Amino acid sequence: MKIAILGTGAGARQHATRLSTLGHEVIVGTRVPEATLARTEPDMMGTEPFAAYLSTRPGLALTTFAEAAEAGEMVINGIDGANAVTALSALPASALAGKTLIDYSVPYVYQQPGDAEHPWPTPWGEMPRLDPVDTDSLAERIQRALPSTNVVKTFVTQEQETVVNPSEFADGDHTMFLAGDHDDAKSAARRLLNAYGWNDLVDLGPLAAARALEMYAHFHTAVGLALGGRFGVKIVRGGSLR
Ligand SMILES: NC(=O)c1ccc[n+]([C@@H]2O[C@H](COP(=O)([O-])OP(=O)(O)OC[C@H]3O[C@@H](n4cnc5c(N)ncnc54)[C@H](OP(=O)(O)O)[C@@H]3O)[C@@H](O)[C@H]2O)c1
Repeated sequence: MKIAILGTGAGARQHATRLSTLGHEVIVGTRVPEATLARTEPDMMGTEPFAAYLSTRPGLALTTFAEAAEAGEMVINGIDGANAVTALSALPASALAGKTLIDYSVPYVYQQPGDAEHPWPTPWGEMPRLDPVDTDSLAERIQRALPSTNVVKTFVTQEQETVVNPSEFADGDHTMFLAGDHDDAKSAARRLLNAYGWNDLVDLGPLAAARALEMYAHFHTAVGLALGGRFGVKIVRGGSLR
């Protein structure tokens, strides 16, 4: 299958590598390919320049967001959360219409020291804010901006290394979640998750549940800081609610 990944960050690379290994044709999208390939310094998270990554993966193609989306039969969104709606809205209407768009962007708003009224310090600076929260989500904003596209929210409750390879913990016996308003798109996302190795999937229902997935990001970070490393999440089912 031709799968477009919009984004060149660390998460996008995990998906690109794994999907290639699974035999898919992967097209990676970026704003300006020449500019992305010209970068020589790691990004603020220490991720190596994209050209260095690409040099060891000759099967991958890098092109613009628009050309990648146009080429993909399925599209994965890994664009920085604060810019995702604007970037996706700028694509030609034909590029995403009728397609499944798996969204894993998190609506982080990064803060400078002194920005937050009640700061939450972390080893890498102040915890970013989430915006939107509670009454809206980034995934819903993307869906409203792209009414002809079928948006599914998933992946965000795990580190991307774990998303693409759940077997690294507990023989893969832990839980992944998805939400969306289109059953066909959720089935496509399920097939992809199964191919990655996920067996325990919880469908949270409509895309409005993406609010819960995105707001979970802070809890995920807090647990990761407490444990000092990566971890899995397992839902243990109980009886019916009274
Ligand atoms: N488990 C998970 O699901 C998980 C884990 C980590 C992060 N995330 C979320 O996934 C998303 C991607 O994270 P990441 O760390 O892989 O990469 P990132 O550094 O957050 O974002 C990189 C991508 O965003 C694009 N971008 C940045 N500013 C832009 C702008 N003004 N206009 C258009 N595009 C812009 C970049 O374009 P260029 O290619 O042109 O530079 C690049 O492709 C984020 O929302 C992040 O919070 C999810």
